[in-house]
Amino acid sequence: MYEKDGIIFRKMDFNDINGVVQIESRSFSSPWTAAMFNEELNNPIAYYIVAINGQEVVGYAGMWLIIDEAHITNIAVDPKYRRRNIATEMIRLLIEKAREMNIKAMTLEVRSCNFQAIELYKRFGFKTEGFRKGYYREDGDDALIMWLTL
Ligand SMILES: CC(C)(COP(=O)(O)OP(=O)(O)OC[C@H]1O[C@@H](n2cnc3c(N)ncnc32)[C@H](O)[C@@H]1OP(=O)(O)O)[C@@H](O)C(=O)NCCC(=O)NCCS
Repeated sequence: MYEKDGIIFRKMDFNDINGVVQIESRSFSSPWTAAMFNEELNNPIAYYIVAINGQEVVGYAGMWLIIDEAHITNIAVDPKYRRRNIATEMIRLLIEKAREMNIKAMTLEVRSCNFQAIELYKRFGFKTEGFRKGYYREDGDDALIMWLTL
């Protein structure tokens, strides 16, 4: 557990899922369901954190740790709490954890039109190394594949 500017950052647990799903549904066109997050919390290769203000979940982020690579699966911040460096802090914590686990590189997919997220990842040194045309089947958006060497 860790606190910065009044926000607590800690591992996600089952009681957080309701709050997480609310942010998820406000953030993505094909949101993950509570059952999917439940499965993730039982997935031994998954590592998820939440940002908490008072009792309220205001952000979350997660990754899969696969041998020496980490794949960021999901990150979102409650629209009311954006631009307060909460995502920045969560990515920093994921990178710190990945380093502790001897992970050599991190990757993620992002919609090519999601300039806010792309900007955020670039700030950490992520570089676009691949492009998947029509990757998001629901609307045909393209994905950028970004990598960071740790
Ligand atoms: C992307 C997202 C997680 C960023 O969360 P956040 O907590 O607001 O991000 P931060 O405050 O840490 O922002 C860090 C930097 O990212 C960039 N950034 C974030 N939001 C931005 C925006 N709306 N416009 C331009 N740049 C933006 C800026 O460089 C920002 O630094 P600055 O505030 O000093 O200019 C948030 O917008 C979100 O939940 N979006 C919907 C879900 C999503 O797209 N997730 C990513 C999927 S791959």
